[in-house]
Formats: sequence, structure tokens, C-alpha cells
Amino acid sequence: MKKNILLTLGFSFFWQAAYSEDKSAVDYILRKRLEFYNIRPLKNLPLNTNRPQVELGKRLFSEKKMSGNRRIACLTCHNPKTGTGDAFPMSQTENGKGILKRNSPALFNIGMSDKSFMFWDGRVHYDFKNKTFTTPEMALNGVNPKAKEITSALTSALSAQAIFPLVTHNEMLGEKGENEIADAKDNLQAWDRIVVRLKQDMSQNSQSKSYSQLFMQAYPNTPIEKINIGHVAESIAAFEREEFQSTGSPFQRYLKGDNQAMSHDQKQGLFVFLGNGRCINCHQGSELGNNNLFASVGAPQWGEAPLILDKGRGDVVNESKRNFFFRVPSLLNVSLTAPYMHNGAFQTLRAVINHYDHISDSLNNFEVSNERRNTLPVKVAIEKGPLQLDNIWLSSQSGLTPKLKNRLLLTPIDKDKLEIFLKEALTDSKWSKLKFK
Ligand code: HEC
Ligand code: HEC
Repeated sequence: MKKNILLTLGFSFFWQAAYSEDKSAVDYILRKRLEFYNIRPLKNLPLNTNRPQVELGKRLFSEKKMSGNRRIACLTCHNPKTGTGDAFPMSQTENGKGILKRNSPALFNIGMSDKSFMFWDGRVHYDFKNKTFTTPEMALNGVNPKAKEITSALTSALSAQAIFPLVTHNEMLGEKGENEIADAKDNLQAWDRIVVRLKQDMSQNSQSKSYSQLFMQAYPNTPIEKINIGHVAESIAAFEREEFQSTGSPFQRYLKGDNQAMSHDQKQGLFVFLGNGRCINCHQGSELGNNNLFASVGAPQWGEAPLILDKGRGDVVNESKRNFFFRVPSLLNVSLTAPYMHNGAFQTLRAVINHYDHISDSLNNFEVSNERRNTLPVKVAIEKGPLQLDNIWLSSQSGLTPKLKNRLLLTPIDKDKLEIFLKEALTDSKWSKLKFK
């Protein structure tokens, strides 16, 4: 049996070692590969010394009053019990009657290493060098004096991101006529009104502090009347940065030098990840993702009927050759964050692996069970068959990464091991314990 595996996998020393029982050779070669790809253990961030800022952010993250109709909070869609996402393929709208077009991404290590792009399509961007933003709100992108007070309070893409769910009608804002924030004439006025609502809020938390008191403690050098949505967002980001760290998986312990941390199967799966699975081409570095890289992997297109194709990065930069490109997500804790892809198309990691192995088959065979349809509040449509391929693949010439156009030809054993690696080695027990509690 073992001999067959060796034969099917090719003859390089690399592969023989991967599947051999000589465990010390496996670790030696694996460590060389990891070094080659510059994959190092993640370190926890130093503790933020502005504790009131983190405390304020924690409260805001679960504050329903930030949403126009006081119905939902960030926590509704980014819940630790569901892997810091919401377990829906696409998030539900604020009123629960519809769906958004995208999957709520996990927030693990979201504040680790200064990430400059936010959202699946990177529509919020912060240039750390020049300290400038590119966002869906034009006023924040230039030198509009009204907006300058906000941008000068923001110090990262992560904090800039936090102000956008607040002013998106079906996300947190609600519809015009429903509340004073949704009725604002523009985003700047809506943000002002959210801050007013928080400052006027007299209810106090367990430590008996009002938002005004928390603002004064978190920003002692800023007069309370100068507090704006930028400060709100900075606090939320400070909380997210600290709260959603995840550095405790078997993979991370292995990177720190413990050869026992990963099982033999997990190590073999990692070989597939780095080798003939070619996952490392895009899922790079210690987080097995790349915040600066957009790619098309031909995820099936589906969503609320009638379907509007989601062109991802192509729409943001207005370039058809970037159509269907999405940001390469981190795979840490991926076992906790189903369903997968920008639109939750796949329910299992095996389905994702099968997709990469044979993309045209995966697209042509993509189906959504009635059971799954019934969990959604709206009718959905799927872009099917050859049309799907044309749109996602052929029409964008450089769309699908050329190498992915060919089959990967993974064996069932490769797939099993890869799945074990993704499921077991990347899961941090600190977070898996929270699931379904
Ligand atoms: C209705 C559900 C919902 C709510 C409420 C919500 N989010 Fe999200 N969040 C999403 C979805 C969906 C995306 C992906 C959208 C996209 O990429 O176009 C997202 C993206 C993000 C991202 C980007 C992550 C990445 O890797 O790019 C962050 C950070 C985030 N949300 C934080 C927040 C914060 C902070 C709040 C509260 C102010 C919030 N979210 C409220 C659903 C929600
Ligand atoms: C060409 C770059 C590229 C390669 C190669 C690649 N990926 Fe991806 N991966 C992406 C992008 C981009 C996305 C998001 C695509 C989308 O949502 O449409 C993604 C999404 C995923 C997701 C879903 C994550 C989530 O949170 O929803 C998983 C799991 C995944 N990839 C695993 C793998 C595995 C395993 C391999 C190797 C067999 C692999 N990827 C190879 C770029 C790549």
C-alpha cells in the first residue's frame, strides 16, 4: 500500500519523505520548506496600554444602539460562537428579511500585522506610508475638511472599516423613514448622528460608565465635543485587534519548534498544501492568507434572485481583468468558519478541496439543496453551466490563475490528508471551545 502511494505521488525525495514513516526526515524537510516560504510562528501583540479604549470598543462591538433601528450589533454577524462570523452563507439583512451578497468573514488575527485591505474586494484601503485612505466614501479619500477630523482619528484600515457597516442600509442603518440616522442626508451626517446617540445614552454598563465617560477616559486629550465616528471606530479596532488573536493551534505550536504538536497525517496534509495542492501559491505566510493579494479561484456565483454577478475586485478598481478576484483569506481556524468563499458557496472543506482539484467540474455540478435554500429568507439563483464558466473564467482573461485552469490531480489520499491538516492542525482550541456553547 505504502509503495503505491509513493509511486503515484512521484519520485522526488520531498514526496517520499512526506509519505514515509521516517518521522525525523519528515520534520527536517517540512521545516526546510516552511523556512523557504517564510512561515514563522505568530506572536501575540503587546497589550494595549489604553485599557479604557479597549473597554469602550468591547462595549461598542455588541451595542445594538449603533444600528439605526437598534436591532443588531457587530457581534450579530461576527460572533465568537460561530467562528467570529455568522454561519450563514451570506449575512442576513438588518431586518432579517433579506440577505447581503457576501459571507461574513472571520476576524481572527484581523489586527495582526498591519493589514492594509479590508473586505473581500479590498474596497477599504489604508496606505500606511502616506497615511491616506481609499474607501467607498469619497469624502474620506481626499482632503474634505469636514471629513478630515474623522480621518485624522483613524490609524488603520481596520478602524476605517468599522464605520461602513453603520451606514449601509441593509446592514446596520435601516431604511429611510425608519430612524433619524437612516434619514441623514449623507454618510457624514449619519456618522454624526450615531455619535450623538451614543453621547446622549445615559444607560450605564456594569462598571457604571456612560459612553461619554468612556470617551473621556479613552481619549483624555480630546474634548468630548470633538469626539467623532473615527474615535468610535478606533476603539472598536483596538478591541478587535486584542480580542480576536489566535496563536494557539497545533500548526502554530509546530512552527514554534514542537515536532509532536502535529500528527503524522497533519504533516502529510501540510506537504500537500505546500506541494502538489499549490495552496501556498496564494495562502501565504504565517496566517496562510495574503491581505495584499487578490485572485480568482472561480468560486460558484449564487445569491438572491435575480442574480447579479459579484465581480469583486473588478468592480472596485473598474478593471475587467480583475473581475471575480477576491482577497486571499487566512485559513487559520478555517474549520470553525463554514460556509466558505466570499458567498458561502461551499459548506464543507472537502467541497472546497474538490473545487480546487477540478474547477470546471465543480462549477458545472454546483447545486444548492432545498434544505439549504430553506434556511434563507429569500429565493436564490445560481449562475449555471457554461455561462458560469464563461463569466468567471473565460471572460476574464487573466481571471482564474492560469495554473488553476489545469486539474490539480490530487489523489483521494492527498485530499484526505489536506482536509485533516486544514481541519485539525489549524484549529485553536481557545476558539473551538466557544463553539455552540
Ligand atoms: C449584517 C451582518 C454584519 C454586521 C452587523 C457587521 N458585519 Fe462586518 N462584515 C459582514 C460581511 C458580510 C462582511 C464582508 C463584506 C464584504 O466583504 O463586502 C463583513 C466584513 C467585516 C470586516 C472585514 C474583514 C476582512 O477580513 O476584510 C470587518 C473587520 C468587520 N466586518 C467588522 C465589523 C464591525 C466592527 C461591525 C460593527 C460596526 C460589523 N462588522 C458589522 C457582516 C456584518
Ligand atoms: C490562486 C490563488 C489561490 C490558490 C492557489 C488557492 N487559494 Fe484558496 N482562496 C483564494 C481566494 C482568492 C479565496 C477567496 C475566493 C472567493 O471567495 O471567491 C480563497 C478561499 C479559500 C477558502 C475559503 C476560506 C473562507 O474563509 O471562506 C479555503 C478553505 C481555501 N481557499 C483553501 C485553499 C486550499 C486548500 C488550496 C489548495 C488546494 C487553495 N485554497 C489554493 C486563493 C487561492
